[in-house]
Amino acid sequence: MSSRVTYVNGRYVPSREAVVSVEDRGNQFADAVYEACQIKDGAIIDLRRHLDRLDRSLAELRIAAPMSRAAMTHVLREVARRNRVQNGYVYWQISRGAAPRDHAFPVGVNPTFTATAKSLDVAAAALRYEKGVPVITLPDNRWERVDIKTVGLLPNALAKQAAREAGAFEAVFVDGEGFVTEGSSANVWLVDGEGRLVTRPADRGILRGITRSVLMEVAAAEGVPVVERRFTVAEMKAAREVFLTSAGAILCPVVSVDGETVANGAPGSVAAQLRRRFHELAERTPI
Ligand code: PDD
Repeated sequence: MSSRVTYVNGRYVPSREAVVSVEDRGNQFADAVYEACQIKDGAIIDLRRHLDRLDRSLAELRIAAPMSRAAMTHVLREVARRNRVQNGYVYWQISRGAAPRDHAFPVGVNPTFTATAKSLDVAAAALRYEKGVPVITLPDNRWERVDIKTVGLLPNALAKQAAREAGAFEAVFVDGEGFVTEGSSANVWLVDGEGRLVTRPADRGILRGITRSVLMEVAAAEGVPVVERRFTVAEMKAAREVFLTSAGAILCPVVSVDGETVANGAPGSVAAQLRRRFHELAERTPI
């Protein structure tokens, strides 16, 4: 396999030569935001909305945008192209920049912008979709601003590892009142007894997933009602269907929760219907 290419502050370099400063604030303080888009059949999916969310994350943290949207789009397409990714994802990250370590913001520092793209194992993803995945639940121990897409993902990483060690695919966080928030790297949905889609409102308790937003449009087009309300782990276990959404996998059916089988233990028909239509409504930016 040819070596991968990474974009770092204006240059495309072999990934093993890509470096940022040890004193980059992303490294020392997780003072950085990121985005990841699916690449499907040679196109970046829903880039416009991901760039909108990035603008919001940057504004929330008062980090300057490193370049215009047009220039950023060019870089992301170029990174995808140079890595020859037809199906996979593009990941990009902006930190406040590098400066001698001091918690307060440095003055006159340029943001650090890095981007990579990677192919995904399409067959493994298809198998997960076909069979569905187990999840476990864990207390949500993250900070209150998980609506900002920062690289401060240590609780998410620990939760995902706990899931792996439990033989599960994803960990689903539960808030102090017993309501599901979201997965360690995905939003969570259920289909209730009346066939309605239920997902938590995108308040500060979750990341407002782009896949989540597009899926709502797909549901509307398909005439599937959507209810935004909080739900419990018990409701999830008793649901007709449960599934996850994220840019990486788009929609992944869940077939067990903490070892208890959901419905008949197979992916459901609503998940299949929505997944089938998803890319008809999603926006494509050819690379
Ligand atoms: N994760 N919630 C969390 C905590 C996430 O990390 C993600 C995405 C989502 C879904 O958002 P979207 O539909 O915009 O991808 C929800 C990305 C894929 C990641 O960290 O790799």
